[in-house]
Amino acid sequence: MFAKLMGWIDYRFPLTAMYNDHMAKYPAPKNLNFWYFFGSLAMLVLVNQIITGIWLTMNYNPSAEGAFASVEYIMRDVDYGWLLRYMHSTGASAFFIVVYLHMFRGMIYGSYQKPRELLWIFGMLIFLCLMAEAFMGYLLPWGQMSFWGAQVIISLFGAIPVIGDDLTLWIRGDYVISGATLNRFFALHVIALPLVLVMLVAMHILALHEVGSNNPDGIDIKKHKDENGWPLDAVAFHPYFTVKDMIGVAGFLFLFCAIIFFKPDMWGYFLEKPNFEVANGLKTPAHIAPVWYFTPFYAILRAVPDKLLGVIMMGLSIVVLFLLPWLDRCKVRSVRYRSTLHKLNIAQFVVCFIILGVLGVLPSTPTLTLIAQICTLGYFGFFVLLFFYSKNESTKPLPERVTFK
Ligand code: HEM
Repeated sequence: MFAKLMGWIDYRFPLTAMYNDHMAKYPAPKNLNFWYFFGSLAMLVLVNQIITGIWLTMNYNPSAEGAFASVEYIMRDVDYGWLLRYMHSTGASAFFIVVYLHMFRGMIYGSYQKPRELLWIFGMLIFLCLMAEAFMGYLLPWGQMSFWGAQVIISLFGAIPVIGDDLTLWIRGDYVISGATLNRFFALHVIALPLVLVMLVAMHILALHEVGSNNPDGIDIKKHKDENGWPLDAVAFHPYFTVKDMIGVAGFLFLFCAIIFFKPDMWGYFLEKPNFEVANGLKTPAHIAPVWYFTPFYAILRAVPDKLLGVIMMGLSIVVLFLLPWLDRCKVRSVRYRSTLHKLNIAQFVVCFIILGVLGVLPSTPTLTLIAQICTLGYFGFFVLLFFYSKNESTKPLPERVTFK
């Protein structure tokens, strides 16, 4: 019966072919380590965000008059509303943690290099879309930080010469952040951006499966094949990596649940304290800071004394990531076989990124601004140095076949 049903479907839709191409017959390198958990975890969090988001939308009221109260209603009166909301708010931070680690894995194993440039570009577009999604979602609870955070970020567009003022007016849909802004952010947050995000993720996976996964050794596994054309260093994605990914899922859910049930606000880092107070356009909070995942870029913005230049540098700090496949000119992909200089460069980049993240949360003082400026130099320095040393880098010999550590 089952075979007959599958036959009927396959004659009309390539279901088995798709399952084989992407799961049962997708050759995954044998040596993929824990760094490769984060792609599937990002998909898990995406599904979590979409499902909890749909249920939140059922009781959320997208108006300046009703938004804050409807979130309180979800928290107190809707059955399991508190759980849905905490799964969604914790999911937002979890998304960025997972995606930052996923991007870092790509950096250390050179997964952006030829032939995976487009895969990387799709990833970067996902990252941009994710930032827009998180920014717009943050306005929806209509708390003090929702309002003032949006106020600060939208006003940055005002620094753009000539069109700046008109542009901010166009984004807000009003002379101040108001119900009109909330309505459009709601529309973009619940339908437009998730749709783009899901489509980009599909393209990301298609691009990955077209060229094949990279691996911690950064070598091409298609060089050595058996008589059937199957790479000797690969195993079928399903069941081997579907099962292995479950270990990542279990570890992730442990931490995710611990946060949801014991510390959903994460001491004000996941849910900021001023956001427990309703938005008030006449009362500016003492200190306005974006949520932690934006703070490295926010610190770069504040490190530059001139507003327009700051906005440009902040934009560049993202644009430069798009260019990574062309800035790294080394023939060797994985950090395992690259020079000490490259290892040190990556290490200083990570340190600078984390320090910038911490500084972005703190109120700025002259000393902290100086540290932010040094770290901004370190951030951009990574890419500039990489471009120059990578061409003639002294690398270690690559193994013929993948290795296991
Ligand atoms: C919603 C967000 C994302 C999802 C769901 C996602 C999903 C995935 C999945 C399932 C894989 C294969 C498994 C793995 O290698 O971990 C993968 C690989 C990859 N992703 Fe993503 N990704 C996302 C965001 C990004 C971003 C922001 C970047 C970088 C800009 C990126 C770059 C890459 C690269 C380079 C690979 C290939 C890695 C390799 O083969 O070594 N991804 N992604």
